[in-house]
Amino acid sequence: MSNRRTVAVVGATGRLGEHVVRVLAERGHEVVAISRSAGVDIVTGEGLDQALTGVDVVIDTSGTPSADETVATEFFTAAAANLHAAGARAGVELIVSVSILGIDASTGGYYRAKVAHEKALTAGPVPVRILRAAQFHEFVEPLVSWGRQGDTVRVPLMRTQLVAAAAVAEALVDLAEGPAPEPGTTAAPFPEIAGPREENLAKAAELVYAARGEDVTVVEVSEEGTPDRELLENGAFVAGPATTLAGPTLEEWLAQA
Ligand SMILES: NC(=O)c1ccc[n+]([C@@H]2O[C@H](COP(=O)([O-])OP(=O)(O)OC[C@H]3O[C@@H](n4cnc5c(N)ncnc54)[C@H](OP(=O)(O)O)[C@@H]3O)[C@@H](O)[C@H]2O)c1
Repeated sequence: MSNRRTVAVVGATGRLGEHVVRVLAERGHEVVAISRSAGVDIVTGEGLDQALTGVDVVIDTSGTPSADETVATEFFTAAAANLHAAGARAGVELIVSVSILGIDASTGGYYRAKVAHEKALTAGPVPVRILRAAQFHEFVEPLVSWGRQGDTVRVPLMRTQLVAAAAVAEALVDLAEGPAPEPGTTAAPFPEIAGPREENLAKAAELVYAARGEDVTVVEVSEEGTPDRELLENGAFVAGPATTLAGPTLEEWLAQA
């Protein structure tokens, strides 16, 4: 590693953040781990100035478990504003953050909150790079668990292009190691990353439960009233021609785990 940086990872204990911490350490960077469990809250700002002292780059992998649009929007906009304000005070050169592939046309819920997150991040003043990622292999079970009742899970028909959080982490660290853009110049289309092939969420859920030895029946449903049903079903969340594809496939990932 020729260019050792001090990198703060926000959400360091999360599905994605723990991989970012590992990749940074493997590449020889100094890591500052940020999460509420480490005593730093990016929504209230508590502990943030102290945590960012001496930090060159921030990789923001924070998230809220709430899928409610208002709750999630408040989380992400407050977090982005605090990261920019504290980052500017600390002389941070670049904030790298992660969004979700295919969310432009979403009509509500968590995906709209992520659009608001992108907007708040690109408002500056610290230069920003945003990577849009497909759903993680690690997220299949949490994503479908809302529809679980006993040993049956109802899963909306969804075309997705699942990607390993480890692959997304490598791409975020690549961005963190690259040059910062001019402040205020970051705009859509953002770079994208997805897994090597399109998957069907219900089939993916079956594979995950089978790999765990759990006897769960997965029922795929296509119902009126499912938020963003058309987008889920018409392939808005799968890779486009400009998306970077990165392995492993879900099966390979399950076999490794
Ligand atoms: N999951 C997916 O499939 C997927 C796909 C594409 C993009 N993304 C995006 O990737 C990001 C990370 O997702 P994930 O699934 O890895 O999330 P996650 O596992 O829920 O992790 C969230 C992290 O944020 C931290 N956090 C939460 N509230 C905080 C606060 N107020 N202050 C400081 N840290 C806080 C959590 O730690 P504490 O609880 O200790 O604070 C945790 O480390 C999200 O922005 C998400 O939208 C996710």
